[in-house]
Amino acid sequence: MPRLLALLAVLVPALAVLVVLRSLIPALDVLSFPLTWPLAVHPDLAGAPQDAYAQQQPLVAQLLSKAHATVAGTLRLRPGKAKEGEFVRRIVAVGDLHGDLPNAQKVLRMAGVVDEAGNWTGEVDFFVQTGDIIDRGDDTIKLYRFMDKLREQAHAAGGMVLSHLGNHEWMNVIGDWRYVYPSEIATFGSVAARQKMLSSGRIGRSWAANYTVTSRLPLHPSLGPPNTDYDPSSPSASSPLSHAALSFVHGGLAPGYPDLAPFPSRINEIGRSLLHKLQARSPPPPPHPPHPYPGLPPSATTEEKRLYGGDGPLWYRGWAQDPEEAVCASVDEVLNATGTRRMVMGHTPDFQRIVSRCGGKILIIDTGISHAYGGALSALSITYTLTPSIDASNEKKKIWKEKEVVASIYVDKQEELAVTEREIPYDLVS
Ligand SMILES: *[C@@H]1O[C@H](CO)[C@@H](O)[C@H](O)[C@H]1NC(C)=O
Ligand SMILES: *[C@@H]1O[C@H](CO)[C@@H](O)[C@H](O)[C@H]1NC(C)=O
Ligand SMILES: *[C@@H]1O[C@H](CO)[C@@H](O)[C@H](O)[C@H]1NC(C)=O
Repeated sequence: MPRLLALLAVLVPALAVLVVLRSLIPALDVLSFPLTWPLAVHPDLAGAPQDAYAQQQPLVAQLLSKAHATVAGTLRLRPGKAKEGEFVRRIVAVGDLHGDLPNAQKVLRMAGVVDEAGNWTGEVDFFVQTGDIIDRGDDTIKLYRFMDKLREQAHAAGGMVLSHLGNHEWMNVIGDWRYVYPSEIATFGSVAARQKMLSSGRIGRSWAANYTVTSRLPLHPSLGPPNTDYDPSSPSASSPLSHAALSFVHGGLAPGYPDLAPFPSRINEIGRSLLHKLQARSPPPPPHPPHPYPGLPPSATTEEKRLYGGDGPLWYRGWAQDPEEAVCASVDEVLNATGTRRMVMGHTPDFQRIVSRCGGKILIIDTGISHAYGGALSALSITYTLTPSIDASNEKKKIWKEKEVVASIYVDKQEELAVTEREIPYDLVS
């Protein structure tokens, strides 16, 4: 133990010096130092000193918290049985996984999504992953294969896996390989094999077919299947159920983001079109570094550039980093426009816990699950229940009691983040 402390006493100040150095000498970017960097930096900002300073704290805090980490037993969460006539929908969402299959499997087991063998349990209706499976670890191929297997198993069991492209998936297909480990490239065989796998190969085809930039997940089937567009002009938009849905995206849907309507198809069409342009480049640009940053193709439209911009849905950090007042004053506008009551996102880690802001309207689920960070193993759980009941003031009138419980699941505990309850007319739900 004293030896460990002595080591830390040397390591922590040394890292702090490196952090400051890096902010002073942007040229250090060409070294592999960004590989251990807590937050990826948008290519437009790479090397900007304010970014480096802003991130000193988490890195040091993370090193310290690692020294005190304890191993706790795995808590196994089982959903309650649905009662007669009751409707229950259970959703589990997990954030950035960054190349760590064992930790990804631990988290999914802990949340009841998979069993000990890593197979879909059927206990959860929807499993959502908010992107950034790739980079900072070696398990890229295994993780995407695992997700594809779960997608098949979920589909066969009447459930569903919803997958999203994070800024790191996009970086890799663009040719921005700043956060790729050489040992990870070795798992593909070569740079060329990796480029092929991410474009016309198995992973690239899976991204094109089964990954989206964002999604809208209704809490009840009467609102349609996942990714049914919210249409503010339809009569159903004024129904009490119209916003009983969640949005998922990697970075965040910024208040001023112009391409929200119709949600989510507008953003997803822009994403699909940009992904196609990137994957169709032949030959693909040589990866950066050591080659120059290739950027988006010349044929990228204004909307496509905006999608990948610093405040676009893949990179935005405002919901995680802006002051409470500002965030809570603008969140309703985005929820209203997207026909949702909560937004779930990853991208900006808190190494201790899932962050709930504005009473659970904003949920930030990146807790640095990968060993690259050593953060908290976590999953977000949302359980939505409709129970048939009788109006308290009129015993002839049937109603539904609606309840939504939002909770975070960790290895050694669960935390309730938000609970909403209300009564809704019986005939609203078919
Ligand atoms: C897991 O699924 C695979 C097929 O995908 C099957 O071969 C295997 O038996 C399953 N394991 C368990 C424990 O159910
Ligand atoms: C997309 O997912 C479905 C299962 O939901 C699967 O059958 C199909 O092969 C996947 N497509 C690709 C290209 O991976
Ligand atoms: C909510 O959205 C509707 C339809 O887009 C719009 O008419 C209304 O003004 C919005 N309300 C608020 C409070 O933003």
